[in-house]
Amino acid sequence: MAQINPSILSADFSRLAEEAKAVEGADWLHVDVMDNHFVPNLTLGTPVVESLARATDIPLDCHLMIEEPDRWAPQYVEAGAGSVTFHVEAAAAPVRLAREIRAKGARASMALKPATPVEPYEDLLPELDMLLIMTVEPGFGGQAFLDIMLPKIRRTRELIAKHGLELWLQVDGGVSATTIERCAEAGADVFVAGSAVYGTDDPAAAVRMLRNQADE
Ligand code: DX5
Ligand code: ZN
Repeated sequence: MAQINPSILSADFSRLAEEAKAVEGADWLHVDVMDNHFVPNLTLGTPVVESLARATDIPLDCHLMIEEPDRWAPQYVEAGAGSVTFHVEAAAAPVRLAREIRAKGARASMALKPATPVEPYEDLLPELDMLLIMTVEPGFGGQAFLDIMLPKIRRTRELIAKHGLELWLQVDGGVSATTIERCAEAGADVFVAGSAVYGTDDPAAAVRMLRNQADE
């Protein structure tokens, strides 16, 4: 079954606990960490993740859009994240980092920006629990889905099958009622949605609707 991870980037940051409750039934809560260096935007860090982890039963899927993830990512596991995603473009030693995240007890995930190909990382895939393919340039919610990423999603699904891996394949950026079916058809199974969930009057219903569409 498809997993839907609402992104709190599109939520009201002054009411994060309530916003987490508003998406009851979601598989994970997607938490976008931005440092104003790796991306031109700034969001939150470990203190907010710690509070949020206490405030909700939904596991936290932390997407680190930051420089020096080798240094910071382990702290997000300690803060309560169930899954930690670092960007390969920023990581000095992705294999070591993935192993450290797993050893600390979280799922290890690696993200690729739109211009980063998956092929050079084929041999790393067994070290990961999830691969994130960005379907917008990271930094902001509400951007248009990049259709040109669909072949990369397809190729990644083929690599996962070729190696017989359990790896989840996540897409993030511009995922909505109009784009989710294309992503699912190409092979994605974990879907981040910010504006398509929190931009509606009934976020929990939006989650259910997106999941149904992805599973069709
Ligand atoms: C963008 C973030 C996304 C963002 C998605 O850099 O990584 O998680 O919240 O927002 P939507 O779904 O509105 O494109
Ligand atoms: Zn994200």
